[in-house]
Amino acid sequence: MATKHLIGLLLGMEEDWSRTFEELVRRLDLRIEHGGETHRYETERITIEPFDLRAKPRYDLVVDRLAHWYYVPREWLKKVALMDGVYLMNNPFTFQSMEKHAAYCAMMRLGLRVPETWLLPQKSPPEDARFAYTADRYNQPFDLEEVAGRIGYPLFMKPFDGGAWVGVSRIDDPDELRRCYDESGQRIMHLQAAVDFDVFVRSLSIGGDTMVMRFEPDRPQHDRYQVSHDFLTAQVGQEVTRIGRIVNAFFRWEFNSCETLVTGDQVHPIDYANACPDVSLTSLHYYFPWAMKALLRWAVFCTTTRRPMRINLDPMRWFEAADEERSYEDRLAACAELADEYFDQQVYEEFCAEHLGHLDEVTAELIADRWFDDLLVETVRTTFPEHEHEKFVAHYRGLLGAWLEDQPLTQPRG
Ligand SMILES: Nc1ncnc2c1ncn2[C@@H]1O[C@H](COP(=O)(O)OP(=O)(O)OP(=O)(O)O)[C@@H](O)[C@H]1O
Ligand SMILES: [Mg+2]
Repeated sequence: MATKHLIGLLLGMEEDWSRTFEELVRRLDLRIEHGGETHRYETERITIEPFDLRAKPRYDLVVDRLAHWYYVPREWLKKVALMDGVYLMNNPFTFQSMEKHAAYCAMMRLGLRVPETWLLPQKSPPEDARFAYTADRYNQPFDLEEVAGRIGYPLFMKPFDGGAWVGVSRIDDPDELRRCYDESGQRIMHLQAAVDFDVFVRSLSIGGDTMVMRFEPDRPQHDRYQVSHDFLTAQVGQEVTRIGRIVNAFFRWEFNSCETLVTGDQVHPIDYANACPDVSLTSLHYYFPWAMKALLRWAVFCTTTRRPMRINLDPMRWFEAADEERSYEDRLAACAELADEYFDQQVYEEFCAEHLGHLDEVTAELIADRWFDDLLVETVRTTFPEHEHEKFVAHYRGLLGAWLEDQPLTQPRG
């Protein structure tokens, strides 16, 4: 019996990764024998239209890069997760309700080294007729400088639910503190101790796979991920990987990026509620083929094995594993085990070894192909101003060429 699995793509403006992923699925032309069935796979871009809440979707799994800002598909995702068992890589219920703040709290509770963080009442009150009375009775006057003094300078003020560096300020003294707070208006802000770090690490997780990358947040978009291989000790590298997987398994996010600041051998997670991260060719460059392979592996694994999507959280098991009596290392190891269990890590790896052994080769052939070079050129043309086209085409060709040379299976592009 043949079963066809339809992988739906919810896309915004991107063409680069989506076309690469579609092409990879097409070229692989998989037929996987599993559970007495022959499994086949297709992709389709999902369109937006009125929907009957009882309608049956055709998709088995959806990769979403749209619903974080467009709320019609967001509500459709909730419907297909609740009613139709469609597998979503990020749990829409936690992703949309758990902002940075909730993620900080949960990870502090698990014992991670989240920098000291306070939440401040808004500078400008919410517009609600009840506010004046409530504030008069219950809001305590507070001394902002005193709070900052407890945390210590330098510190960061940033929105409790932020993203894309909007409203984030580094603060070195009380004058800046007052000015930033005045400017924050109605946003709820955190004050967070600044970590004096040696290395900024961003780890991208897709399902059971995580890529730990050196990151330079102050550089332009195309130059943030650094091609760098041995920038962490094995132990710190493992810790960073574990932290990302723990966050993801805890919240049921399977397509997420996690930012950690490494000082000596201490790892401080600062930003890890980034579900549906950017995986564009122009951002990920050298790491782009890795992301395409990971997305494919996880989508094929989940659909073939009919992995049930976890809608509910299970925080108590995590809190027990991370018992405060235990050392940091023991808490982390116990949580990492729960993460492995969540991702079904061993089964996943065996599945990939058994059924997707040729993925590396097919991906390398695709990246070396004229088809991909045309896409690269087109992507540069639509991303950068004209006078930079030549420079960036050479830049990305160089990085993807370097990736190809690092692959054991293929010859470098001639
Ligand atoms: N506690 C901290 N210590 C040191 N640097 C920090 C700290 N918090 C934030 N930063 C710096 O500020 C930047 C933005 O902060 P953060 O990642 O929390 O905000 P964001 O709005 O989610 O940004 P982005 O979307 O770029 O990740 C970080 O990339 C880092 O360079
Ligand atoms: Mg960040």
